[in-house]
Amino acid sequence: MKALLCKTFGPPESLVLEDVESPKPGVGQVLIEVKACGVNFPDTLIIGGKYQFKPPLPFAPGGEVAGIVSAVGEGVTQLKPGDRVFSLTGWGGFAEQALGDATKTLPMPPGMDFVTAASVMYTYGTSYHALKQRAALQPDETLLVLGAAGGVGLAAVQLGKLLGAKVIAAASTDEKLSVCRELGADETINYTTEDLRERLKILTAGRGVDVCYDPVGDRYTEPALRSMAWRGRYLVVGFAAGEIPKLPANLVLLKGCSLVGVFWGQFAALEPRESMSNFRELLGFIAEGKLKQHIHATYPLAEAANALSDLLARKVIGKAVVVV
Ligand SMILES: NC(=O)c1ccc[n+]([C@@H]2O[C@H](COP(=O)([O-])OP(=O)(O)OC[C@H]3O[C@@H](n4cnc5c(N)ncnc54)[C@H](OP(=O)(O)O)[C@@H]3O)[C@@H](O)[C@H]2O)c1
Repeated sequence: MKALLCKTFGPPESLVLEDVESPKPGVGQVLIEVKACGVNFPDTLIIGGKYQFKPPLPFAPGGEVAGIVSAVGEGVTQLKPGDRVFSLTGWGGFAEQALGDATKTLPMPPGMDFVTAASVMYTYGTSYHALKQRAALQPDETLLVLGAAGGVGLAAVQLGKLLGAKVIAAASTDEKLSVCRELGADETINYTTEDLRERLKILTAGRGVDVCYDPVGDRYTEPALRSMAWRGRYLVVGFAAGEIPKLPANLVLLKGCSLVGVFWGQFAALEPRESMSNFRELLGFIAEGKLKQHIHATYPLAEAANALSDLLARKVIGKAVVVV
């Protein structure tokens, strides 16, 4: 089978398309004929050797796949060859076949297409957990989303709106912000041309925002933290802009606000029942047409490295998906 391999840790250009042996499912695993694989920022960190885990080299990146089960390993009873599934593989999805843990592989709902199925788990899973369990976002509260046109950001915009909040989307271009508006943002801020703090003061009549969703970090974090309302919740989601910010702790005191960590993978591992319940709710929203993933572009497997380069170049709006 063909796989786009990371043979040494490095940038997307260092990935190579090769023929490799088909993997065999071990105990508790399924082998999936990959039809589509979602592209996520952590893929860029994993191939760079900068993520929380380092798969043994060589490996294919791609943490979220949709496809058809072609074989099952010992002990797998709930899935069988021919099932249409989506799976959180962690890596291995930029390939014609991938191994998935049966506990992280679910049957696709009837009527869902492979591109959608490969692009909903990470982004909606992370943002729903953040807004529901970590921020306890309430209807009529104000939600600020930084990097609002990115994968998890756009999911937060949509879910914030669905939960009844007033959503302020902040991103780097007017094109990105117009997509945020189409998907529910009430207000927008272009943080490359406008002063984030000043605009937030105007938009909240000086009160500040109740919840900030921050997947960007770096220089964007401090002005956003300075714009929190009393008893606000500041969600630390990621650092796509590079630097992990160091913050003056007095700001948290003065605002009477909370800095709240969001680690969706660990939530799913430590609280599987609650995570599964979130996921069922999300699939319900999708089935009812209340949530629809914004697909930026699809890329053939041979060009999957370009999907990662485009993500790093801040070109992707919503989700990029590799189609195999
Ligand atoms: N905590 C968790 O459980 C969890 C789960 C999933 C992902 N994450 C993290 O969340 C972050 C976003 O992930 P994602 O998949 O949504 O990524 P994404 O689609 O690439 O979105 C990231 C956004 O960050 C902004 N950005 C600002 N400076 C950037 C830079 N130098 N390079 C790239 N992007 C930059 C971009 O928006 P503008 O151009 O508008 O600024 C971009 O749309 C990542 O750090 C990821 O590791 C965390």
